Amino acid sequence: MQAQYDYSGKVVFVAGGTSGINLGVAQGFAQAGASVAVMSRSQDKVDAAVALLKAHGGEVFGVAADVRDYAATENAMKAAQAALGKFDVLISGAAGNFPAAALGMSANAFKTVVDIDLLGTYHVLRAAFPLLKKPGASIVNISAPQAFIPMEMQMHVCAAKAGVDMCTRVGAMEWGAAGVRVNSVTPGPIEGTEGMKRLAPNETTRHLITETVPLGHFGTPDDIAQACLWLSSPLARYVTGVVLPVDGGWSLGGVSSSFDGLKKAFAGAGKPA
Ligand code: HXC
Ligand code: NAP
Repeated sequence: MQAQYDYSGKVVFVAGGTSGINLGVAQGFAQAGASVAVMSRSQDKVDAAVALLKAHGGEVFGVAADVRDYAATENAMKAAQAALGKFDVLISGAAGNFPAAALGMSANAFKTVVDIDLLGTYHVLRAAFPLLKKPGASIVNISAPQAFIPMEMQMHVCAAKAGVDMCTRVGAMEWGAAGVRVNSVTPGPIEGTEGMKRLAPNETTRHLITETVPLGHFGTPDDIAQACLWLSSPLARYVTGVVLPVDGGWSLGGVSSSFDGLKKAFAGAGKPA
C-alpha cells in the first residue's frame, strides 16, 4: 500500500522484526521514510531483513539478540542507537507459539513461551525506555486475540499475551507524564505468517478461521503496519493504553468458535506431560 505517513527523520526499532507481521511493520515504517532497526535471534534472518529493508532507501540497522536475555537486548538497543542516533518509535513483537494442550506440554514449554512473549516484552520496554523517553515517543506491543479470548491448546500464549496487554496499560500510566504513549495492536489471522502456519496449517483449519471472520478473509502484514503507523503518528497523539484489534472483526465472537474446530483439528498435538 502507498505510504500515507511521513516518518522521515524518525528512527523505529522493531524487536522481532525479521519475519512475518513485524517485518511487514518494519517495511511500512521504512516506506514512510523512517530509519529502521530490527532485532531477532537468527543472524541469517537479521541479514535478510536488513537487505529487504534497505531497498526502501533509508538507513537500516540489524542486530541478533534473544529477548529472553536482558543484557543482550540492552546491548542490541544501544548498538542500534549508536548506529542510527536515537529512537522515536518502538515496536515489540517477538513471540513464540505452538498448539499444545495444557497437560500436553512440559513446564519448560509453558515457561519458554512466557519468557519470550511476556518477559521478553518487559525486557524490550525496560531496555528501550531510557533511550526513547521524550514527548511524542510511541511504543506499540504486538499482541494476539489470545490475550482476552481464552482458547484451548493455547494456555501458554493466552497467559503470556494477557500479560503483554497489561504491560501496555501500566506502561501508558507510568510513562504518560514523560509524553510517551504505549498501545497494543492485536492482529487477527494474517496471511502467509508463521503464526498461521502453526495454527491453521491446512485448508480445513484455514476454512474454519475464514468463515468466522466477519470481513470474510485473512489480513496482511500491511494491515498491521497501517495501524502501527497511525498509532505512532501525531494523529493519535491523545491515544494511549489501548488494545486495538486489527482483525476483520474476528475477536467479536469468531475466534472462540473457530478454535472449537481447531481444537478438534489439533487433537493429540503437543508432547506428553
Ligand atoms: C509441545 C513443545 C512444542 C510443541 C516446543 N516445545 N515445541 N511442546 N508442543 N509443539 C517444548 C520443547 O519440547 C521444550 O520443552 C520447550 O518447548 C522449549 O523448546 P525449544 O525448542 O528448546 O525452544 P526454543 O528453541 O527457545 O524455541 C522456542 C519455540 C519455537 C517457541 C518453541 O517454536 C520458536 O522459536 N518459535 C518462534 C517463531 C514462532 O513461534 N512464531 C509464531 C508466532 S505466532 P522441554 O521440556 O522438552 O525442554 C503467535 C500468535 C499467533 O505468537 C496468534 C494467531 C491467532
Ligand atoms: P514470526 O514470523 O515467527 O515472527 C516472530 C519474530 O520474532 C521473528 O522475527 C523471530 O525471529 C522473532 N523472535 C522469536 N523469538 C525471539 C526471541 N526469543 N528473541 C528475539 N526475537 C525472537 O511470526 P508472526 O506470525 O509474524 O507473528 C508476529 C507477531 O504477531 C507475534 O507477536 C505474534 O504473537 C503476533 N500475532 C500473529 C498472528 C498471525 O496471524 N500470524 C496473529 C495474532 C498475533 P527469530 O526466529 O530470528 O528470533
